[in-house]
Amino acid sequence: MDQLRFDGRVAVVTGAGGGLGRAYALLLGSRGAKVVVNDLGGSRDGSGKSNFADAVVKEIKDKGGVAVADYNNVVEGEKIIQTALDNFGRIDILINNAGILRDKSFTKMSDQDWDLIHLVHLKGAYKTTHAAWEHFRKQKYGRVIMTSSNAGIFGNFGQANYSAAKMGLVGLTNTLAIEGSKYNIKVNTIVPTAASRLTEDILPPEMFEAMKPELIAPVVAYMCHESFPDSGAVIDSTLGYATKMHYVRGQGAILKKKPSDPVTIESVKEFWPEATNMKDSIHLEKIADTTINLVEKIQDFEERSKLDGDRESYWSSYKYDSKDLVLYALGIGASVENESDLKFLYESHENFAALPTYFILPGMAIESPLVANSMPPGKHADFTNILHGEQFIEFVGDLPGTEGDFKVRSYVVDTLDKGSSAVSIVNSEIYQNKQLVARTQQHIFVLGQGGFNGPRNSKQAVEVQPAPKRAPDAVVEQRTAEGQASLYRLSGDLNPLHIDPNVAAASGHPRPILHGMATLGFSARHVLAKFGGNDPANFKALKARFVKPVLPGQTLVTEMWLEGKRVLFQTKVKETGNTVIAGAYVDFKNVVSGQASSGPAATAAPSGALKSDALFAKIQEEVGKNKDLAKSIGGVFLYNITESGKTVKSWTLDLKTPAVHEGGPKSGKADTTLTVSDGDMVDIAAGTLSPQVAYMKGKLKISGNIMLAQKLGPLLKSNAKL
Ligand code: NAI
Repeated sequence: MDQLRFDGRVAVVTGAGGGLGRAYALLLGSRGAKVVVNDLGGSRDGSGKSNFADAVVKEIKDKGGVAVADYNNVVEGEKIIQTALDNFGRIDILINNAGILRDKSFTKMSDQDWDLIHLVHLKGAYKTTHAAWEHFRKQKYGRVIMTSSNAGIFGNFGQANYSAAKMGLVGLTNTLAIEGSKYNIKVNTIVPTAASRLTEDILPPEMFEAMKPELIAPVVAYMCHESFPDSGAVIDSTLGYATKMHYVRGQGAILKKKPSDPVTIESVKEFWPEATNMKDSIHLEKIADTTINLVEKIQDFEERSKLDGDRESYWSSYKYDSKDLVLYALGIGASVENESDLKFLYESHENFAALPTYFILPGMAIESPLVANSMPPGKHADFTNILHGEQFIEFVGDLPGTEGDFKVRSYVVDTLDKGSSAVSIVNSEIYQNKQLVARTQQHIFVLGQGGFNGPRNSKQAVEVQPAPKRAPDAVVEQRTAEGQASLYRLSGDLNPLHIDPNVAAASGHPRPILHGMATLGFSARHVLAKFGGNDPANFKALKARFVKPVLPGQTLVTEMWLEGKRVLFQTKVKETGNTVIAGAYVDFKNVVSGQASSGPAATAAPSGALKSDALFAKIQEEVGKNKDLAKSIGGVFLYNITESGKTVKSWTLDLKTPAVHEGGPKSGKADTTLTVSDGDMVDIAAGTLSPQVAYMKGKLKISGNIMLAQKLGPLLKSNAKL
């Protein structure tokens, strides 16, 4: 990198007779800046006067730099700026660094201790900056550094005066960064920790030794450079390390349940944990953002309240991305051994999609108190006595994409009395950008909590549908892996029953059991592949009842019956014959019979002219003209050109003969096969998509002799000469 220089710039460094200021002045001086070395030359508490600055000026000059000493008190900051103007005719950089300490416990602090600290740190920085400001504005250039302290940011015993003044400088930075932005004046704050006379009795000796001011100077110098990008930043630096600090704001809470409720001291207390929860906190850049952020929250609150009416609802947020989808797909048995599963496992696959049952997860509301709250008096529900009994999901519009954010509203629609057990029916509505995208319903069994004279059935319940008596129309078998539950749990259900042998034994299982939701995911995949064209977009709804647990390693047998656009199914364990999922069905938009292809992609009928045709014609011409060169590369290349994931045309580039023609190789065998979409082929040839990137992203697939393909590079360019 080129050396960052300050030639032609004039810098004022206050308090530069020693410590940090000296290191800043020396570094700037060595990089071409003309430096005003200001120092009053007092003692640590601000008393007395001497000429520290002279020695620093001498050091700069000895190394060939330009510097002048200034002995003014920063409280008369305009005089220091005048020194710069008198000697060098301008001012570009101002480092407000001068400082003293008057540490006292607050009880013992006098007005003088308070005032003196504020005078030097806060008023001093104000005076110098104010005097320089007009010059900065006029020349449309300025760099200002304020010096704050961790003692202000975190507080420090005995430094009430100092902490207050140091935080004042952060506020000053914030506003000056805004006022200076139009004029290319950048104002930033450094929070240093370094060995100096201010810290010699504060830092432990071995740390004191290591914390050289010279390790912070490059950070401050960069912050003063014309190429420095930030303004209004607070930068903490020590020991050759730097980081940015800023305030964050929690998500906060509206301090009442319903818009019409009053805010009372009691409601404030009730919502306090939520108001002060810093999970999901955000950094707001501008003061106006605080209002925008709050208005959005209030609107959201009002919309939710309208939806909720008098019902107790539980709102939660859910975020997912491609990695979550892939992990889920692995958890429910998708595997690269099956080519048709690849689009669920590979985020760069051109048809990458979510498996539809993934979207049951946002509605699981595992942390929700709803079921516990729905229990009648004398009954209780907690994680030790609940079981997932039934599950339903229905998509309202298109299937959600491969990453996104949901807001989920869950509520109990009924609590049933099934004799020995209670059943809570929990509905969830899944919203994306305020649009309802899916509804789910869970039946949660609460063991031993029935017998409260409640209703046995609910009109709100989505019912299961028993399997027909006839033989199934299709059956798919798949063995689950021994580690299936340990993989599936990473999709969010961390119940120890699925991983901890002791917990499993305590519940009467020989070993940890597979999640019912994992079993359901396997079967839904089987149904989708058999009757849904393996196309998630085709999936409308699913309902299932969990009957018995499955042990990882057992083989699942999904039996399916086609009835119109509904595929009824049930799942058995091959080794025991037990039915584990019953009364289940999937509704499709369109039924597509026949299993997803597990062999190579089928070749569809050519779709006529392709964009890449012209490219191959060009290659044909070039090969014709340069036969010897073509032969020197050698090899037979087969290009499969795809559209929407299907091969629509093939071209053979036979460099042995040499010849270029449509269709497969006449010899029957290609050395290298390249599969690429029509559009990507053209982009690669045009040079807008690099073959390496296309290959890494899975857009260009190469099989056979890959080394040979590398020789082809120039041939892929439409303007290439062979
Ligand atoms: P230092 O005491 O070596 O340097 C401060 C210099 O400012 C002294 O040379 C002093 O003569 C001069 N000065 C004091 N009052 C002045 C005034 N009214 N007008 C002009 N010059 C004056 O201390 P150090 O550590 O280099 O401190 C530099 C700055 O960094 C100070 O603002 C300090 O509060 C701040 N700081 C230092 C930390 C550290 O770990 N050293 C930690 C946090 C902040």
